[in-house]
Amino acid sequence: MQHLIDIMDLSLAEIDELIEKAKDIIANPEKYQEKCRYKKLATLFFEPSTRTRLSFEAAMMELGGNVLGFSDAGSSSAKKGESVADTVAVVGGYADIIAMRHPKEGAPVVAAMHTDVPIINAGDGGHNHPTQTLTDLLTIKMEMGRLDNLTIGLCGDLKFGRTVHSLVAAMSRYTGIKFVLISPEELKLPSYVKESYIKKNNIPYEQTTSLEDVMDKIDILYMTRVQRERFFNEEDYLRLKDSYILDTKKMEKAKDDMIGMHPLPRVNEISVEVDSDKRASYFRQAKYGKYIRMALILKLLEVE
Ligand code: CP
Repeated sequence: MQHLIDIMDLSLAEIDELIEKAKDIIANPEKYQEKCRYKKLATLFFEPSTRTRLSFEAAMMELGGNVLGFSDAGSSSAKKGESVADTVAVVGGYADIIAMRHPKEGAPVVAAMHTDVPIINAGDGGHNHPTQTLTDLLTIKMEMGRLDNLTIGLCGDLKFGRTVHSLVAAMSRYTGIKFVLISPEELKLPSYVKESYIKKNNIPYEQTTSLEDVMDKIDILYMTRVQRERFFNEEDYLRLKDSYILDTKKMEKAKDDMIGMHPLPRVNEISVEVDSDKRASYFRQAKYGKYIRMALILKLLEVE
């Protein structure tokens, strides 16, 4: 595998290998601190980010490598009209590996056609976010001890939430998975995601608008933000933005060993009072993101 555009580019064996590598990095960070000496990672972020960009940069630094890039399309020559293809063709001459986020679905595919260096999709519009999914899988493995036999509740903006689309695809390949899809009517999981992964694999699922009604049956509750930047009008966003708020009262109904995940950033959908609940795993999840990205960089650069 040269690039990571879609989580389905990785086999289950490769995902397992990345998770095991990340666990070894967590246990033995000193073993890895020179692995990418003299290597450079470029982070090309045409859309805002905190976790993905900074965890990629921290990952490369902890591997002994260097980073370059931009965090705002407005400070790059995209502002002057340069295409993604040209940007990547040029940056491929400066860096050994590129992590790119772009508001247009499919932009990383175009990028991969215009350079020989590995391209990592760090989120493309409302489409996919494969490295968030690797983060999520490592989190589930670390917190639950398994990736199978799980009932996964996905709550919030399932329409535009790219992390949800990639997670559904990834989890559809494990056994004993059930999905509970919790969203307003307008923000339901796109039918192409449901058809391609859930229905195709005969995975049991239910759809509901009520989070309270399903709290007690969920092993993993994956909360998501309503994606304001993907809405065509502000009125719809304002009407839907507070559809679900996870608070301590709702957490009382959850299993003792449930975990609450969120790709972050959080806006209002999880009350801060939930943060001190041991089942709230979203800040640990963000930290796991650095380790799995270290494992991914090593794999794509073919460093042992
Ligand atoms: N989860 C995630 O993609 O966060 P950022 O937008 O901050 O990178």
